[in-house]
Amino acid sequence: MNASSLNDLTLWLQSQSASTELITIIGGFVASCIHIDDAVQTAALNGTNGSSGTINVQGEEQKELDILTHDIVVKYLDEFNQIAALVSEESEHLIVKPTADKDAKFVICFDPLDGSSNIETNGVIGTIFSILELDQPKDKIDTDDVLAAANNQVAAGYVIYGPATILVVSTGKSVASFVLDKQNRRFVAEKTELSIVPVAAEYAINTAYTRFWEPALATYVEQCNLGKNGPRKKDCGMRWMGAMVSDVHRLFIRGGIFIYPGMDRPGAENGKLRFLYEANPMAMLVEVAGGKALTRTKRMLQHVPDNIHQRVPVVLGSCEEVDELLALYSS
Ligand code: AHG
Ligand code: MN
Ligand code: MN
Repeated sequence: MNASSLNDLTLWLQSQSASTELITIIGGFVASCIHIDDAVQTAALNGTNGSSGTINVQGEEQKELDILTHDIVVKYLDEFNQIAALVSEESEHLIVKPTADKDAKFVICFDPLDGSSNIETNGVIGTIFSILELDQPKDKIDTDDVLAAANNQVAAGYVIYGPATILVVSTGKSVASFVLDKQNRRFVAEKTELSIVPVAAEYAINTAYTRFWEPALATYVEQCNLGKNGPRKKDCGMRWMGAMVSDVHRLFIRGGIFIYPGMDRPGAENGKLRFLYEANPMAMLVEVAGGKALTRTKRMLQHVPDNIHQRVPVVLGSCEEVDELLALYSS
């Protein structure tokens, strides 16, 4: 990546008063996503869009691209010595960087490929990242240090590999989007001050699990489906993309609500989505953009995980829509 290749991103991050160190790290991670975009675009051609035949720590079948994209990120970030450690969906253990500076204080948590089940159907997939800052540099960082820093999230973002490859990122002040110019291998500024409209009429949830939901959630979806003849007095739409990045990106475009609930199903009591590299980053982006981000009925960003792959129930979206669900939980 040449110096001008992250120009728009660097300029915007500077406008957000991000530190030089943080700008460097975000730039490095985003640059690795340009290589991920290459891998995603060529997977079908290269025959790397299949299963790897291995199971990850989540107990899920790993796709070849899950591993390939994980390796791209780890390899690319190797030279960034301000990063003390990495948490990856595809690595059971914390990846402590041996080359990290003694005063390294940043940890990057990432889902290298979100929505992997969409690969074989040529659906939208993405990469999610969260940057945590340790309250003080730690020579031999361990998992407890990472968990203690979970609420000190200084940056979050995702890259969505769709018809366009789009980066959405925030360092806490505002949310901006950038489009990948594939010719010049650079992200070009698209929108700044992204916001989530407070009122919406579209929900995203996998209704195949209806029988496992709490009554309040079942009532909420039922009321949406009753449309203008029901208590909501308006027709609602439904989308379920099978990739969190895609369902959350829609919130920034036209509002709505995204729900991955805890369920009365063995192993799914806390749902499916992992706090450190899916729920926490998306919650930061949604809140900064004026939306609401909960884990069941509590604010997501106050949650303290007890392990690096902990799953949490997720509710993200337009304030008034989330309040409709909250009202049913408390009724
Ligand atoms: P990942 O591919 O990283 O495991 O994430 C997939 C997640 C999330 O992106 C999506 O919203 C959800 O799984 C879909 O879950 P269901 O297949 O249960 O609908
Ligand atoms: Mn994911
Ligand atoms: Mn994943």
